[in-house]
Amino acid sequence: MPQRTLARYLTEEQRHKGIITGDLKLLLEVVARACQAISVAIGKGALGGVLGEAGSDNIQGEAQKKLDVLSNEILLEANEWGGHLAAMASEEMDLPHLVPHRFPKGEYLLTFDPLDGSSNIDVNVSIGTIFSVLKCPEGADLSTPQAAEQAFLQPGSTQVAAGYAVYGPTTLLVLSVGDGVVVFTLDREQGQFVLTRENVRIPAETQEFAINMANRRFWEAPVQRYVDDMVAGRSGPLGKDYNMRWVASMVADVHRIMTRGGIFMYPMDEKVRDKGGKLRLMYEANPMAFLVEQAGGGASTGYQRILDIVPEHLHQRVPVILGSRQEVERAAAYHAV
Ligand code: AHG
Ligand code: MN
Ligand code: MN
Repeated sequence: MPQRTLARYLTEEQRHKGIITGDLKLLLEVVARACQAISVAIGKGALGGVLGEAGSDNIQGEAQKKLDVLSNEILLEANEWGGHLAAMASEEMDLPHLVPHRFPKGEYLLTFDPLDGSSNIDVNVSIGTIFSVLKCPEGADLSTPQAAEQAFLQPGSTQVAAGYAVYGPTTLLVLSVGDGVVVFTLDREQGQFVLTRENVRIPAETQEFAINMANRRFWEAPVQRYVDDMVAGRSGPLGKDYNMRWVASMVADVHRIMTRGGIFMYPMDEKVRDKGGKLRLMYEANPMAFLVEQAGGGASTGYQRILDIVPEHLHQRVPVILGSRQEVERAAAYHAV
């Protein structure tokens, strides 16, 4: 049985199922190659001089690490010349990056969190890249980066593909083109992603939750009640014991949920209320919500399905509750009373 590489999987999705276009196939292959390059840079660590601070801040006012900046550059450079994109937007850039005039333009928009889990870089814990693909609306104004922002402001339900790479003990690429979720493992010797898991399904029930407990006093009452009830365990109102895991890299926490279920929460809290939440809608919440729903899970703000949110700004933030469907529904129910 020949190995099913990413290229082969995408060709099947294009040729036999008609789910993706040739341009989307090319786009996803280019993103995967960029993730491979990021994986190589991360793997070198201190030997490659990639650890530590970049000495700059991003639009969100966060200090950038060298790898945040490097990963952003790798993704931009890989994607701008292929002719498959109209524009890109990133957590690390104030404004969209337009495809330079010397290159042809395509019909897709790409957004990314080039390096997720920045606080884990220097401690050698799993980090990742998250990306999302949208169709560029017909007649969109791409004359300036400012004007181009409007083209990106589409609800997550319109995504045509989303994925993430986890740079952990192995480098994985987890992808959905709207036809379920598949996982590829990077074969480092051959330099290609090989399909290693198909039809990913998140168990509907779970006894594992992921949240930054240090923020408890800042959460809204429904989340406080829900987490207190989980912590109360078997003798509490939920009647079962829970376990807690918090990697503090969304990719790693979501990947655990993709593997064995669980619920991940970065809910609204008083420290981030003026920003709308902690996690970014276009670069983190939407792609992860798309993947989780494609794997049979749920993704909500507590009040609303994440994929239904109509974005107002490129860098908008939202509360995020996602994972095992029954547990996400339970969390939403706490918000409804
Ligand atoms: P980023 O590194 O892209 O800024 O994202 C970090 C996010 C997410 O990955 C993680 O779940 C969360 O921030 C960690 O937050 P805490 O610092 O509160 O643990
Ligand atoms: Mn992130
Ligand atoms: Mn990031």
